[in-house]
Amino acid sequence: MKHLTAKTKELVLNSTLEEKISYLRKQKWIPYPQADKIMAKLEDLKNYPTVDRMPNLLIVGETNNGKTALINKFYKKNNPYIREGEYDIVVAPVIVVQAPAEPDEKSFYNKILEMLNAPVIKSENPDFKLRRIISLFKKLEIKLIIIDEIHHVLAGSPLKQRVFLNVLKYLSNELKISIICVGIRDAFNVIQSDSQLANRFETMILERWKNNQSFLQLLINYEALLPLENPSYLTENSIASKILAMSDGLIGEINTILIKAGELALKSGLNKIDHKILDNIDYVSPEDRKKILRRNIL
Ligand SMILES: Nc1ncnc2c1ncn2[C@@H]1O[C@H](COP(=O)(O)OP(=O)(O)OP(=O)(O)O)[C@@H](O)[C@H]1O
Ligand SMILES: [Mg+2]
Repeated sequence: MKHLTAKTKELVLNSTLEEKISYLRKQKWIPYPQADKIMAKLEDLKNYPTVDRMPNLLIVGETNNGKTALINKFYKKNNPYIREGEYDIVVAPVIVVQAPAEPDEKSFYNKILEMLNAPVIKSENPDFKLRRIISLFKKLEIKLIIIDEIHHVLAGSPLKQRVFLNVLKYLSNELKISIICVGIRDAFNVIQSDSQLANRFETMILERWKNNQSFLQLLINYEALLPLENPSYLTENSIASKILAMSDGLIGEINTILIKAGELALKSGLNKIDHKILDNIDYVSPEDRKKILRRNIL
């Protein structure tokens, strides 16, 4: 079982079918080159010395293509910790907030306060909220703020957009920390629309997957974690192209396909994924889902 990691091999040898299926369905992190690159960039920004114009980053990708999984992975490596000493101090190098669905600065501040486990006082004036946030950020020695789903707050009227962009600028200038915005392509367009922000943000993209070396590397890494006794040779050209075509190039779909195929491979006793298994899983590609929806609506 050279195709498996030591841990997966042990699991294959010592687990029941149910245990293998349960492991298969568990959320896993499969490394891939672009994620490593973005993760290295985030690490670099976290350690960046304080300068007047802190560099910021915008991570753009289509829906279901691994943005949130990536920042969660980074956050896990950078959890808050206690610096022991005369006074034990809580240090939180990174904070992750979900942008509120409403493009409104007050809800945004509330989200940040919630993340910091600070009291959220509904009637509090936004300026006071902001002052509390700034003081908490300094106290916790926060180096990076990651704002996921940034396109929500940038999707409002031009006036609301402007207010929010000013909040980002203010946070960046006042706190001298790097801001990481994460979202779909719309976010890129809005940030580009403000020249002051555009030149403070570098953009990194999570492209749709293509049949290239990165994709093959992802499949190799994935296969090593599938609890299947026999090698599937997922990188074999026709299997790799098939998975890619079924998935529409989105990592969330690749993940779903491999879980379903792995499960069928286990239940069928074949213990590997091949063309036949892929043809027989209960899976509808995103493109076909859209077609079905259109057909049913029209
Ligand atoms: N590196 C990875 N290894 C394994 N699974 C992954 C990986 N990256 C993403 N996934 C899976 O793909 C799915 C979609 O990922 P994610 O939620 O990060 O997408 P997203 O880009 O944030 O989408 P949205 O814009 O809709 O929020 C999730 O189920 C996630 O577990
Ligand atoms: Mg997401």
